[in-house]
Amino acid sequence: MNNIVLCGFMGCGKSTVGKNIARKSGKKFVDMDSYIEEKAGMRVSEIFEKYGESGFRDMEHEACRELSLEKNLIIASGGGALTFARNVEVFKQNDVIVLLDVPLDTIKYRLRNDTKRPLLQRPDKDEAMAELYEKRLPLYQAAADVTVKGEETPLGTAFAVMDAVRLYSK
Ligand code: S3P
Repeated sequence: MNNIVLCGFMGCGKSTVGKNIARKSGKKFVDMDSYIEEKAGMRVSEIFEKYGESGFRDMEHEACRELSLEKNLIIASGGGALTFARNVEVFKQNDVIVLLDVPLDTIKYRLRNDTKRPLLQRPDKDEAMAELYEKRLPLYQAAADVTVKGEETPLGTAFAVMDAVRLYSK
């Protein structure tokens, strides 16, 4: 089978849900940020510091291209990845893109104590998140083949994704 690519805003549960899908389906889970970190030998926050966001986006694009060449992966994309046409194009060729749809208020709550995401380390974090969320949601929706509500338990959402992908692939 081709890869399942989870997309959606930071904190929507891509990694947690992805791990549950992998566990239930016996497929391999790949977290795109960890993949980039391993290749670069540094954390995402350090990549942002050293090379800026655009340097990170280039590494992210490279990761998308490499991962799309594989099969049977459950991929948790980074929250920005599928907002770029060049990455959507790469995954659209063979893979199923699934949007985990979670309301902004839930995201804000989940990320209230976040210290690791460079885009959120700012005093006006709530406003910045709201602005980014509004800008990105239509891009995620356009990229996604399937949308699943992501407010259930991670396992419940994992099953919902698996069902939705099965229906989509028929
Ligand atoms: C980003 C989301 C992060 C990570 C980087 C940029 C974004 O991934 O790729 O900090 O632009 O939304 P998560 O969605 O896993 O937090």
